[in-house]
Amino acid sequence: MRLAVAGKGGAGKTTFCATAARLLARAGHRVVAIDGDTNPNLHAAMGVDAEAAARAQSLPTSLVSRRFDGPRLTAPLDEVLDRHALDAPDGVRLIRMGVPQHADEGCLCSAHAAVSAVLADLGAEPDTVAVLDLEASPEHLSRGTARHADALLLVAEPYFRSLEAVRLQASLAAETAIERVAVVANKCRTTTDVEAIDEFCANHRLELVGHMPWSDAVLDADAASHPLLDHEPADPLIDAIAAVAGRLVQPVKPQEVGS
Ligand SMILES: Nc1ncnc2c1ncn2[C@@H]1O[C@H](COP(=O)(O)OP(=O)(O)O)[C@@H](O)[C@H]1O
Ligand SMILES: [Mg+2]
Repeated sequence: MRLAVAGKGGAGKTTFCATAARLLARAGHRVVAIDGDTNPNLHAAMGVDAEAAARAQSLPTSLVSRRFDGPRLTAPLDEVLDRHALDAPDGVRLIRMGVPQHADEGCLCSAHAAVSAVLADLGAEPDTVAVLDLEASPEHLSRGTARHADALLLVAEPYFRSLEAVRLQASLAAETAIERVAVVANKCRTTTDVEAIDEFCANHRLELVGHMPWSDAVLDADAASHPLLDHEPADPLIDAIAAVAGRLVQPVKPQEVGS
């Protein structure tokens, strides 16, 4: 199952991905987290050691060839993961999109293509859950970065500009082959916030998979450079993220546990 997560900048995509990836791994899934942001920070939100992150190489664009059905990997997926994945807490493997190396070097199509190619090959691994943390720009939809995702989760904050970003990305996603497009509300502080997102989803016929409450703990965790899961394991935001992840990803079948 390949889950891509998008939304306006600051909506909570990385917070969701970092926490959901680790919770899914704890629930017995094999999880590959992909940082699809050219300003990468998923490793920090997951609690990967900063020195290990600095040493690891992001996905090289040389791994991709363009084919009629889109970009594909030129090396076996296992090899790519072995060479480029970082070990993150709870057994999650994390790979990161290439970042610009120099000013004025041009567009980042190839970096997006590398992520698309990895996601394509993860389709042949039905027992692996991929969690793709996308960047704020809707470019991932115009470039097809997440074209092989099975579901796209749009993180919405209860204010107009965030909802506008969700509306735009949902309409672009409707033109893709992504089967399920759903919305999760984040940073809800009041019933008015909850109602605003409920109404928005109803008006635009969008599936709403849950509400994530406002959390002071996640801000404290960020300030301390700790993942929320380690900083405040009982925070209600964690339960909300677990519930949303559980609605999007089928539980592990008993015979798969420990395999
Ligand atoms: N439910 C929440 N309550 C309060 N702050 C939150 C919540 N979710 C995320 N944040 C904070 O919002 C900021 C942006 O979150 P982040 O996950 O990095 O967003 P994105 O990846 O969408 O840009 C961070 O400081 C994060 O701690
Ligand atoms: Mg982010």
